[in-house]
Amino acid sequence: MKSARPQRSSLPALSLQLAELRARLADAEETLRAIRSGEVDAVVVAGKEGPQVFTLQGAEHAYRVLIESMNEGALTLTADKVILYANQCFARMVKCPLEQVIGSSFRRFLSAQDRATLRPLLKRAAQLGSKIQVVLHALDGSQMPAQISIRPLPKNGLNRATIGMVVTDMTEPRRNEEMLRALSHRLVQVQEAERGRVALELHDHITQLLCAILVRSQALANKLSARDGPSKREAMKLREMLGHTAEEVQRISRNLRPSVLDALGLVAVLRDAGTEFAKRTGVSLDLACVQLTARLPADAELTLYRILQEALNNVEKHSRARHVAVHLTQRGAFVQLAIHDDGIGFDPDRHPAKRKGKGGLGLLGMRERATYAGGTLKVKSVRRAGTEIEVRIPVPPSPTAAN
Ligand SMILES: Nc1ncnc2c1ncn2[C@@H]1O[C@H](COP(=O)(O)OP(=O)(O)OP(=O)(O)O)[C@@H](O)[C@H]1O
Ligand SMILES: [Mg+2]
Repeated sequence: MKSARPQRSSLPALSLQLAELRARLADAEETLRAIRSGEVDAVVVAGKEGPQVFTLQGAEHAYRVLIESMNEGALTLTADKVILYANQCFARMVKCPLEQVIGSSFRRFLSAQDRATLRPLLKRAAQLGSKIQVVLHALDGSQMPAQISIRPLPKNGLNRATIGMVVTDMTEPRRNEEMLRALSHRLVQVQEAERGRVALELHDHITQLLCAILVRSQALANKLSARDGPSKREAMKLREMLGHTAEEVQRISRNLRPSVLDALGLVAVLRDAGTEFAKRTGVSLDLACVQLTARLPADAELTLYRILQEALNNVEKHSRARHVAVHLTQRGAFVQLAIHDDGIGFDPDRHPAKRKGKGGLGLLGMRERATYAGGTLKVKSVRRAGTEIEVRIPVPPSPTAAN
């Protein structure tokens, strides 16, 4: 505000000017008080071109009541991210009095990383609108996971708000997600333990029994002479069938928990699984494995093996592929396994599990396993151009790497 300099004028004129200035000052103070308390839809923002008044025309009473009763934070921002309007819920989220929230920059409630993410998004959101996950930093130093939905606002007279935001507290959904993840991991552990137990039973008992029967049926077939014609043929057939049954039981036992994984490690088990797959399905399979610097932790080996198993199941069930390439590579602190088929492909964004929350569990399970191992899983697939599953999981630094 400019100070009025007394000019050479008469005393009554001066006192008139003074009274006028006092009235304007009182007006200004009243306006400021009303803005701070939220009674007036206007904010004075200090900018490069001096103080500017932003009004929130059109924020009608009914909408104001609705927005104030929301369980979500609601804000309008200028293009410079100055908060023109915020509801009480947002003020509670950032534990800051509403009058301090209004007029301040939205950036103050974000980490440096989230600010950087938000910048290009806000620019794009000015046309399209979008959603982003951030961590809100409250005034008392506490943090809160939040989802921000950004909407461009139409230009409206003097209203300088260009962006509307709805801020949702994600603390509860995150907690539920973590609980679900922990639960699903526990289920996987129980399933693995059960698979191991059944595999052992099959291997140690059923296979042994089958082998014993096999030997005796062979002996029986040998005892029968050529004169026993049909009986001998039947005994031979029986022996052959028992041989197939023993092989099948061994295959099931291997799938449940391959002993070679524990004994010889990841590369050996990938090789075994690849050979068995190619032999059984007639789909050719190339396997290229780097020499890993050291054996991976048992959990990591099992995760990668199970993902290969599930990916090969999908190739067999869905892909109509003629060729599969499997690559195991080590990139710094990550081991990467890629399974690529030349089959019919699919749209990963539209498969049933994503569309309706039901459908196959294979891809979901692979992703869960990778995430739990601290890694990532990417599904790249194009219709008629094949599918690639790429999983990366971190490995602990090998002792030799430090030298
Ligand atoms: N390699 C692939 N080639 C073509 N389509 C695939 C491939 N992998 C997955 N899909 C498609 O993605 C869908 C989801 O796969 P996912 O493994 O999650 O479930 P599923 O195989 O149908 O059932 P489940 O694995 O539970 O037995 C499949 O139904 C299939 O349509
Ligand atoms: Mg599947």
